[in-house]
Amino acid sequence: MSYINLSENLVPLTISKLMQMKQEGQKITSLTAYDASFAALFDRIGIEVILVGDSLGNVIQGHTSTIPVSIRDMAYHTECVARSVKRAFIIGDLPFASYTSVAEAVKNSASLMQAGAQMVKMEGGSHLQEMIEVLTQHGIPVCGHLGLTPQSVNTLGGFKVQGKTADAAKKILEDALALEAAGAQLLVLEAIPSSLGAQITDALKIPTIGIGAGPDCSGQVLVMHDALGAFPGRKPKFVKDFLATTGTIEKAIALYIEEVKKGTFPAPEHCFVSN
Ligand code: KIV
Repeated sequence: MSYINLSENLVPLTISKLMQMKQEGQKITSLTAYDASFAALFDRIGIEVILVGDSLGNVIQGHTSTIPVSIRDMAYHTECVARSVKRAFIIGDLPFASYTSVAEAVKNSASLMQAGAQMVKMEGGSHLQEMIEVLTQHGIPVCGHLGLTPQSVNTLGGFKVQGKTADAAKKILEDALALEAAGAQLLVLEAIPSSLGAQITDALKIPTIGIGAGPDCSGQVLVMHDALGAFPGRKPKFVKDFLATTGTIEKAIALYIEEVKKGTFPAPEHCFVSN
């Protein structure tokens, strides 16, 4: 396991660097973080993208979904993370119903950027195109999020794998192309068959970051509590507890980085297949 020596590697990650990594076939490593201490640790060990996810509604606040999370919560945790990160690229998640109009999206994205995010993430497909164009014009980089979009748990009818039929897969691929055309510079793909994760990654110029989307995405992200075995209840199929075999948080995160870089995580047992 190798740790990044920050004294030799203090160049902050940018979206151009992440794009270059995709072009060169280097896997991108990402984890969520919500506070200064874990963010600093992940940054020091070499995680490239830190997502201040609205999953904090589940893992920090104890809700059963991300729906109760507010923009104030997100800005607060983004500030905590941004204060301690020196190298990683920071994404702030726009929470439920904080981007129902272009004006709301600009106002709420601005508060995440002013809190220290370098990009905002929003869940949804082609209906977000105009919003993404406007945000990008205002200097706010956007990460899309397709597949299982937890803010829509009530319209999806639960936390279910998406894109399993040919028609559903086609719609997700079309949405991915629409988001890229609108100016999105990164795309999270959650809980879709590995074959669809590979197809979308191949069809796009921008990097894809998978969570339950197979090994062929440009990078991988996990909720930090899941990667450290601190999931309440049933373990989702796409999760691996990296602490179980390593014994310290530092070694667990280093192992996660190593397995993502080598392409051995996610393994077949963490992946979904089409119908
Ligand atoms: O909120 C979050 O942590 C996320 C990841 C699951 C991708 O959106």
